[in-house]
Amino acid sequence: MSKVKNGVLLMLLVSALTACGNKDSAGSDTPAASGKAIEFVTTQDSSPLIINAALFDTPAAKEFLATGKNPYIGNAEAEAKGKKIFQLYSCTQCHGPDAKGQVGPGLVGPTFKYPKDATNKGMFETIWHGTNGGMGAKGVGLMDPTDPKNGITPDELLKVIAWIRTQGTVTGNE
Ligand code: HEC
Repeated sequence: MSKVKNGVLLMLLVSALTACGNKDSAGSDTPAASGKAIEFVTTQDSSPLIINAALFDTPAAKEFLATGKNPYIGNAEAEAKGKKIFQLYSCTQCHGPDAKGQVGPGLVGPTFKYPKDATNKGMFETIWHGTNGGMGAKGVGLMDPTDPKNGITPDELLKVIAWIRTQGTVTGNE
């Protein structure tokens, strides 16, 4: 009887291991595993910044995840939405209604406090995960959970950045 029980346990164990194996091979279809995703780093200390790929849920956000380029640059409709989102998340209060600075610094360049903010990937990382010098993370799931807005999505952030770029001469996609 106990032999049978052991056999059943062994079968369960084998099928559990096989299931894990299947999961791993399915996982290799994700952009990160197939090498099609850029790797994000924090602006604080350049350590790896893991952002759930599922949050990149629009064609533009997926393209950004694959290439690091912001597809909304030069897209007037997206830029207009970005301006509204900039107001909604109170960016205006610190960076001014034209993003040229108020309590916080100007965001239009051509020089930036964090030089990587001259690229759209760099600016995305800075806004998503915040800085050590006075700006908290704005990414969804990272922003103050008591804030009813609960954080900006990748697609929204790309629109915000596209609008910020209209205020200066740097497009960030060079
Ligand atoms: C409470 C005030 C505050 C709010 C709200 C705020 N910021 Fe900031 N932001 C700052 C400060 C202060 C800095 C400078 C941080 C530092 O020196 O580390 C900064 C830095 C930045 C930088 C880096 C600039 C550079 O020269 O490298 C970007 C980009 C930026 N903010 C974008 C945004 C966006 C977009 C929003 C809205 C989603 C936002 N900020 C909301 C205060 C704020």
